[in-house]
Amino acid sequence: MSIFCILNLKNSQFCKLIDVLKCLKQRQIYANSTSYRSLSQRLGEINGKQNSATFHDVIANRKLEAKRSILVQVQSAQSCKELYTYCNAITPVKQMFHYSTGVEPLHFIIVEFSKEADVSNVLSQSTYAESLQIVPVQSLFLWFKAPVKKNKQKVLKAAKLQIENGTFILNEDDVRHSLKEEKSVSNQMLSLYNSIKLNDISTRLRFIVARQIETALSGLFPHVVVYPFGSSVNGFGRMGCDLDLVLRLNENQSTSADSRLVFHSKAITASERSTSQRHMEVIGDLLQLFLPGCSHVRRILQARVPIIKFYQQLADVECDLSMSNMSGVHMSNLLHLMGEFDSRVRPLVFTVRKWAAEVGLTNSHPGRWITNFSLGLMVLAFLQKPGYAPPVLPGLNLLIKSAGPEDTFITEEGINCTFLRNPERMLDFRRLNTDSLQSLLEQFFVHYSNFDFSMKAVCLNEGSPVTKPDHSPLYIVNPLEQGLNVSKNVSMEELERLKMEMRNATWILESQEVKGMNWGVLSLFDGRRKFGMSPAPRQAKLLEVSTLFETESDGERIEFKSGQVEREISHVKSETKENIKQIEMKSRRRKSRR
Ligand code: GTP
Ligand code: MG
Repeated sequence: MSIFCILNLKNSQFCKLIDVLKCLKQRQIYANSTSYRSLSQRLGEINGKQNSATFHDVIANRKLEAKRSILVQVQSAQSCKELYTYCNAITPVKQMFHYSTGVEPLHFIIVEFSKEADVSNVLSQSTYAESLQIVPVQSLFLWFKAPVKKNKQKVLKAAKLQIENGTFILNEDDVRHSLKEEKSVSNQMLSLYNSIKLNDISTRLRFIVARQIETALSGLFPHVVVYPFGSSVNGFGRMGCDLDLVLRLNENQSTSADSRLVFHSKAITASERSTSQRHMEVIGDLLQLFLPGCSHVRRILQARVPIIKFYQQLADVECDLSMSNMSGVHMSNLLHLMGEFDSRVRPLVFTVRKWAAEVGLTNSHPGRWITNFSLGLMVLAFLQKPGYAPPVLPGLNLLIKSAGPEDTFITEEGINCTFLRNPERMLDFRRLNTDSLQSLLEQFFVHYSNFDFSMKAVCLNEGSPVTKPDHSPLYIVNPLEQGLNVSKNVSMEELERLKMEMRNATWILESQEVKGMNWGVLSLFDGRRKFGMSPAPRQAKLLEVSTLFETESDGERIEFKSGQVEREISHVKSETKENIKQIEMKSRRRKSRR
């Protein structure tokens, strides 16, 4: 225990020292820079730093990994050793990772080298398929063909190969079985988190997909950067989650007033919006026509934030690509930071999201229901003020107050995304709350069962609820753009369903005494069945994707596709009325005990 304390102390002292050094360096840099500086520029500056889980470091390291990697399709997992021998003869291989996709599986290996130049070396020795019917594109995506002559070279043992899990998603029954075996609800929550969270190979793949687009555009735009954001990088991603990408054509370019040689360029004559739409159209064509693996390209250009949706079939990832909206990257940073503050945050968010999916509150389509993103914010807001216990997480305003110059970010659109980025600098704040995961889960449901949604808004900035500024049924203040409501899409009916299910969940957790077949979180997931209700409706009102990222004035854009949601509110209401009364009484008793 004392060794642990000493190590911690050393670690925090080390971090402080690094921070001071970084501050000094940043001050020097800030002396002659504008308020907006590119993220990747900053990532480069902190690249050397190790052993820290700041978002910048994680992203920078992942991007570097992707720059050192290629993705090779092979005939079977057995081809790995041969591929290893072949690549190793060109340049030393650092590590290899196997994964497969599809029912009749296609096999792939991510080959990681020691440096970026090794990739160029290997690509320079690669060739095109021997057919005139191909577009001769060079990319990081290759396949390993059978040797022309029988190879006498001794096949090396691929010692650096990871062949175990790949991108395999555990099936529902296996997950449930492992949860059943756990000893406590808290352990079930941890186990759930560990079995469904995004793994290393899936994360690597997502950065390789981003890298593929970067390398494709780098001839025209040498300073292009594609940032993955959202659940792929914020620490709240499940296996199989989509990949959100933002493409910046000119991210690192430094303009020097002294330079007398200026690039000739085309003038932008149309509005910013229509120019961006035209550019997106071209990027969509590029993905569709030239980039291996990019398929099902859909252009959603009328949305406030135009996006291109596509499926990268070689990596088996659904992707959403946009060209603006860097605030999404900073939002991911904020969520990542919250997850790093305390090891209970992610298992709690995963459990709540899984519960919401199981009882039919969330749906993979956009619609009038709450999203995983909004639900995650509700959990974080609760952890900032969990009843009478000390907070688990700080309010965003405190993080803003604690920010140093190195934390200053203002997007091109003028959104101030400044907040403390290094959780190590608030170690004192952590560990005051010692509640178990189970207790936090119970408190979460009680908290929102009693929440005054009609008057109050969920607010991470204050770290406690604030008065609702408008009549939206559910108001969750966008932490980075406080004038916006991230849950503006949620209808009154869906809010009622959310409240009802929260109360059911409270009831289920409180009334559980013995471990049965489906005990703990499993009984929570089967809550509807327990109350004799039909399984959660899966078909429901769909929203146009154009309503994503809506602004205050975008509300009228919401359009419905066909298909009425099966409404059960009144039915649920009468069935659970009795339960609600009991829960409220219990909750009052609990408060008075405290
Ligand atoms: P899943 O895709 O469901 O796994 O979660 P996600 O967090 O990736 O959500 P989603 O793909 O819907 O959105 C991607 C990212 O965009 C989020 O993580 C946020 O950073 C950002 N985002 C999502 N919804 C909103 C919103 O309503 N307003 C703003 N400003 N940003 C949003
Ligand atoms: Mg996403």
